[in-house]
Amino acid sequence: MPIPETFITELVERSDIVDVVSQYVRLSKRSGANLFGLCPFHSEKTPSFSVSPDRQIYHCFGCGKGGGVINFIMEIENLSFPEAVEHLAKRAGLSMPEQSGDAESRRRDRMLRLNRDAARFFRQRLLDPEGEPARAYLARRQIRSKAATDFGLGFAPDSWDSLEKAMRALDYTDYELLDAGLVRRGKSGGFYDTFRNRLMFPVIDVRGNVIGFSGRILGDGEPKYMNSPETLVFNKSRNLFALNLAKKSKSGYIILSEGNIDVVSLHQAGFDSAVASLGTSLTAEQARLLSRYTDQIIIAYDNDNAGLKASQRAIGILEKLDLKVKVLRMSGAKDPDEFIKTKGAEAFRALLEGSENQIDYRLRSVTDKYDLSSDEQKVDFLKEATELVAKLPGAVERQVYAMRVASMAGISSEAVTGEVERRRKRLLSGARRTDQQEQSRPERQLQPADRELRYTDPGSAAAEEGLIRLLYLEPALGKTEGLPEAEEFSSPALGRIYAAIRDKINRGDAVNTASLGEALTLSEMSLLVSILQKPELLSKGEQTLRDYIGRIRDQRELAGRELDLRELASRLRERKGYKG
Ligand code: UTP
Ligand code: MN
Repeated sequence: MPIPETFITELVERSDIVDVVSQYVRLSKRSGANLFGLCPFHSEKTPSFSVSPDRQIYHCFGCGKGGGVINFIMEIENLSFPEAVEHLAKRAGLSMPEQSGDAESRRRDRMLRLNRDAARFFRQRLLDPEGEPARAYLARRQIRSKAATDFGLGFAPDSWDSLEKAMRALDYTDYELLDAGLVRRGKSGGFYDTFRNRLMFPVIDVRGNVIGFSGRILGDGEPKYMNSPETLVFNKSRNLFALNLAKKSKSGYIILSEGNIDVVSLHQAGFDSAVASLGTSLTAEQARLLSRYTDQIIIAYDNDNAGLKASQRAIGILEKLDLKVKVLRMSGAKDPDEFIKTKGAEAFRALLEGSENQIDYRLRSVTDKYDLSSDEQKVDFLKEATELVAKLPGAVERQVYAMRVASMAGISSEAVTGEVERRRKRLLSGARRTDQQEQSRPERQLQPADRELRYTDPGSAAAEEGLIRLLYLEPALGKTEGLPEAEEFSSPALGRIYAAIRDKINRGDAVNTASLGEALTLSEMSLLVSILQKPELLSKGEQTLRDYIGRIRDQRELAGRELDLRELASRLRERKGYKG
């Protein structure tokens, strides 16, 4: 246990969940004891995100996320459990207790140290005589040594084991290197360097840790880039290349581009707020991370079809977080790097200043698709354009853009405004309906929101849930004789939750979302909280407990018998020489 339980308890007492959540979500009282707001974890039009001040938990009836105050911070700020504790401690003005460090945080520390040492190794190779090919490549791409230093660029030599040897000499084991994705295991069981003969870009998180690498081939060839695999410290979808630098920018916006080279080139030209999304299309987690540092994003993706599609997707994701989004319109160059090289930094600055807001951008994309001199196409254009305008949240905005659409199509603005408002009504009632349908679908309530945790035996799972709910609400029942083992559960996820609760009870610790926060993953925690939403009769606790246990064991026996039968049948078939 790295962080003492007593500290967690005090922290949670001082971090009222309503106060904390209110910094992210506008909550209002509807009926009963709970507060409601629009869920920050999925997009919705009617509030299904609830916060209970009494029980100090949150739960979304739409997406199923839930937990205590620490889970909320983990989820919304993209933090691990200890990081979320630290975050809340700062907010509450508590100083963190000294920590001895558990196995996982030791492993994490070692991996970060190893990554840093590897980055130093690559860096040094770039400066050595053997780094000549990489230096020549940098020169060819017009990346000067100042930028190479700022980004900590390096060179992985053309060798199977130079990194491995160097790191072994620093007392890292092959296993640690494998764990960090820096070496791979060969067919004969030996290890070889993952990155060979590549220009190395260290990926550095906002705290300044080297969490992984991206290696570009020198020149043409496949694969163009190799990236570190997902590791304990590297999660591509939760980090952005160069955000460590961009977060310090005074520009007031962040430029989102596609490529590492674009980013280096942009910084070198004075655009110090450029980031890239590590070769994945922008994720919701990355967007949330960005929103911690800016409220305005300028998208500068590649000037091709893929870039266009990616821009549209990114707009949707960023909009949900209330970020102002603009899209850069580049012409005559395939990406920001090429644009700056052929037209210069000043021309790029002019682009930035002229970048369209995203509504203009989308409207123009729609306009470009149709030939407005043809009546038939004009009708299709109006359909798509009014649909777009109808989705705008502000009435004034809708009015302004409806007028623009009208003038483009050459028809009266009243006709367009009327159509926009009709579509809007339809949209709103549709949204309300799907929200309600989502909530009342029975299987939704029976199955966990996270697909990976789906129950294979809903009958037994219902009893397993009941047992968990009882023990959570009435921990004294944990001392009852004859409780099942976690392995007897049909659902592994429920088994893990059950084991975590019993572990707390056996140690004499409190059972609540804070104390369980470290043992459970966020989706297990969400599952637990949704289980707690269902009613439970506590008055006849022990009797109910017996019923649940009985049902779990009966179901298990049934399932076992079914298996036996199937096996028997297959044996019979074999004996008869039955083919089929
Ligand atoms: P690009 O192919 O546009 O690369 O891929 P680039 O960085 O702009 O390089 P140049 O200018 O063509 O030399 C964009 C990003 O996608 C990821 C990398 O993060 C790259 O920066 N990517 C690309 C990969 O992860 N793997 C690949 O094989 C290619
Ligand atoms: Mn590119």
